[in-house]
Amino acid sequence: MTPRSLIAGIGGYLPERVLDNDALAAAYNLDTTDDWIVERTGIRRRHLAAEGETASAMGAAAARAALDRAGLTPADVDLVIVATTTPDSAFPSTAVRVQGHLGITRGFGFDIAAACTGFVYGLGLADSLIRSGQARCALVIGSEIYSRILDWTDRGTCVLFGDGAGAVVLTATDDPAETRGILSTHLHSDGRHGEILKIEGGAGSTGGTGLLRMAGKEVFRHAVSKLAAVVDEALAANGLGHGDVRWLVPHQANLRIIEAMGRKLKLPPDRVVVTVDKHANTSAASIPLALAEADAAGKLQRGDLIVMEAIGGGLTWGAALARF
Ligand code: COA
Repeated sequence: MTPRSLIAGIGGYLPERVLDNDALAAAYNLDTTDDWIVERTGIRRRHLAAEGETASAMGAAAARAALDRAGLTPADVDLVIVATTTPDSAFPSTAVRVQGHLGITRGFGFDIAAACTGFVYGLGLADSLIRSGQARCALVIGSEIYSRILDWTDRGTCVLFGDGAGAVVLTATDDPAETRGILSTHLHSDGRHGEILKIEGGAGSTGGTGLLRMAGKEVFRHAVSKLAAVVDEALAANGLGHGDVRWLVPHQANLRIIEAMGRKLKLPPDRVVVTVDKHANTSAASIPLALAEADAAGKLQRGDLIVMEAIGGGLTWGAALARF
């Protein structure tokens, strides 16, 4: 009997410092307006990490919240996956640092760099490792501090992102009658489009600023068509249709992309979880943060079909279907 992965708990962490659009413009001397940002993106404010705060510490805080919600402790965890493109260091990996913060001494952990699609990739990997019997209790964490890789002189990108972390605990079940849990994940990448959204330089390169660069219109052009296709791929793989979806929990990059996806799935707006207005784009953290918020608000009910989808630098994109 192949085990399946149940969503046992969800948690989030947001840094204390909150800047609305006006405060951001004033703090960084940006030639922008609240109206421009809200109209183009739906973003109204974002959280920014404090000096010295790290992706591993934020991820550990989100993980603790998710474990509490699941009624589990760090001693139960045998796999930690952190999706991040703002790791504390190339190594030790952020996942192993999270193990350290939580006092986890068994099992294994590693990071995934798939930009904004990282959490969906992480769910896919954790689910595969659970199904193959290599793990029984996995923390899948998205944790990002994009404020450290933004060019604060580029108003076209720096207004779009925020910092935060979210985590999901997956536990294995061997019950053949169980129909909940991760149904499937569908992962894609296409390296031809690497230049339209990237970090310039990195630990192993010569030169480069280490800052995020984006051709916004180009990214937008890929987003809706690729996301719609991968969601349809995920539903078809499970013999499901648009009408079966209870919650769309999309990557939170831009309200216009999110609303277009809601319309494609013919979902009323109140079935689409939106946090981009309050969190901005927290990259790999945005889906688990949105899940945590929906769960805390009591929206997610046992058995609800949840569709998660994301697109990000690479390009990478993907979707995951789960029954809560
Ligand atoms: N405030 C005011 N004006 C701004 C601005 C800001 N923060 N940022 C850019 N502008 C200006 C530009 O300089 C340009 O001015 P110009 O016409 O005088 O040259 C004008 O606004 C239009 O810029 P453009 O980049 O063409 O805007 P856009 O309509 O494409 O919107 C994005 C920009 C970034 C909001 C939009 O492209 C987008 O959402 N793309 C997808 C990004 C995304 O989701 N990325 C993450 C994926 S994981």
